[in-house]
Amino acid sequence: MQRLDKILSEAGICSRRDCERLVRKRLILVDGSPITSSASKISDDAVISVDGMPVVRRRRMVCIMNKRAGLVTSTDDPQSPTVMDDLPDEMLSQLIVPAGRLDKDTEGLLVFTNDGALLHRLISPKSEVTKEYYIEYEGTLQTDAPEKAKAGITLKDGSVCKSADLVLLQGGKCTICIREGMYHQVKRMITALGGHVTFLRRTRIGALEIGDLKSGEVRELSEKETENLFL
Ligand code: URA
Repeated sequence: MQRLDKILSEAGICSRRDCERLVRKRLILVDGSPITSSASKISDDAVISVDGMPVVRRRRMVCIMNKRAGLVTSTDDPQSPTVMDDLPDEMLSQLIVPAGRLDKDTEGLLVFTNDGALLHRLISPKSEVTKEYYIEYEGTLQTDAPEKAKAGITLKDGSVCKSADLVLLQGGKCTICIREGMYHQVKRMITALGGHVTFLRRTRIGALEIGDLKSGEVRELSEKETENLFL
């Protein structure tokens, strides 16, 4: 059950004040009958119409996908399949969009939402949300690569990265945590350190891990899990 005025504002139909006006004019019908208060609690399966037009109900939605390699992070691309192709209809109908980008050949954790404020918090250049990546690379990273990443790597074009946490693993593998999102940032950081990325997967955003979500799978986050994005 949700308040009528909240449903209509979330669906982008009208403000709470306009809702009251429409209620007074008897223009809002719920299951075919005029409603008498904009504060009325409406059940989830009730059919609402405003001035004769059916309302497509929308609610705040935050989802995560384990993105497959080969998909472009875009809502529309005439040349290539996009991440939207892996969203089920019930999520597409809530008008969720990707919060940030992963390259076409990158796999892993991608957030989708229809909440503009949340989207901005995640992708704003000022956002300091931590993102962790698992990397496989060719070439050799020097043993002091973690210290260099901590101090702030300078990329080929002169941009200086914020301090990052790099952990070298056995056999041409490492992980890195960054707190910004420049174009191809991780690949360019590894290049600056003497390697070449051959595989990249985002494994964590904030305190939210990809867990056992299978490649190509999507699921909705709870309020609590959404908060974890910012821890
Ligand atoms: N950094 C990259 O280089 N590519 C990605 O997809 C994400 C981060």
